[in-house]
Amino acid sequence: MKEKLEKIREEALRQIDASDALEKLNDIRVAYLGKKGELTSVLKSLKDVAPEDRPKVGQMVNDTRALIETRLEETRAALAKKAREEQLAREVIDVTLPGKKPEIGHSHPNAIALREVEKIFVGMGYEVIEGPEIEYDEYNFEKLNIPANHPAKDEQDTFYINKEIVLRTQTSPMQARTMEKGKLPIRMISPGRVFRSDNVDATHSPSFHQVEGLIVDRHITLADLKGTLAEFAKQMFGEDTKVKFRPHHFPFTEPSAEMDVSCFKCGGKGCRFCKDSGWIEILGCGMVHPHVLEMCGIDPEQYTGFAFGIGLERIALLKYEIDDMRLLYENDIRFLRQF
Ligand code: DAH
Repeated sequence: MKEKLEKIREEALRQIDASDALEKLNDIRVAYLGKKGELTSVLKSLKDVAPEDRPKVGQMVNDTRALIETRLEETRAALAKKAREEQLAREVIDVTLPGKKPEIGHSHPNAIALREVEKIFVGMGYEVIEGPEIEYDEYNFEKLNIPANHPAKDEQDTFYINKEIVLRTQTSPMQARTMEKGKLPIRMISPGRVFRSDNVDATHSPSFHQVEGLIVDRHITLADLKGTLAEFAKQMFGEDTKVKFRPHHFPFTEPSAEMDVSCFKCGGKGCRFCKDSGWIEILGCGMVHPHVLEMCGIDPEQYTGFAFGIGLERIALLKYEIDDMRLLYENDIRFLRQF
């Protein structure tokens, strides 16, 4: 029995020492100490040993078991330590290496220009409101003094969804929508996308952006319009910017004008940028037509107002000296990265 135990012990220890993986140790544990393990079966055969020898042999079995258990545990700890060290060596992080800069996107020139326009008008107490791109003919035309057979309706080359519904050709319908709400005074700008069935070229696109502006209050005069828009031009294009108003016609304003700013490239002397005129057109404007006020439920005897419409792309193109509008829509990363 003693020899048998020694043989078991030696064999077990040899196997343990030769193990190079934790799973192998587990197999060894089962093979020797498990329910059907070798040492367990020796313990079971203890009943065949002479009663007087049993305590001694029993002790020997227990010693062997303890020895194997200790060695198993030591080896397990050593293997675990080694595995951990290997893992740490593998996953080593050099915290002194320079970090990787995450790539952040760029604002689109249109977005930058819009942010600036908004900042200027918000600074003057205007609120920013947005409206639907799919609009009723009634708001896009009718309530802006553009009746069914008005030439402006063709001029604007409208995308019709059906007889009553269009893709808005201008942000001006937001004038009617705001006035109709009946909350006075009004001081708002309304930026957004507009649509016209134009062919794409360097200065045209079937979809572009405008910023509408409207102020309605008692005692608003043409002087307020001029002062406000001149201030806008200065903040947008520089303190030295001069403005010029040219008479024009828009059905929903009377009188109407287009505003030019002195060319900020050449200061008004004339250059390629302003086509040698020294002036650049940037918006349409005018005093809100009394008939429009009336149609929207405002008494033109009590209230007056002015309105303006800015072409956002125009501002962005001017500001960044971009000579082809298509660049704004192609979203070529190499182009956008510059802003
Ligand atoms: N809606 C006009 C257009 O698309 C621009 C415009 C002109 C808007 C004069 C206005 C305005 O509010 O007063 O051409």
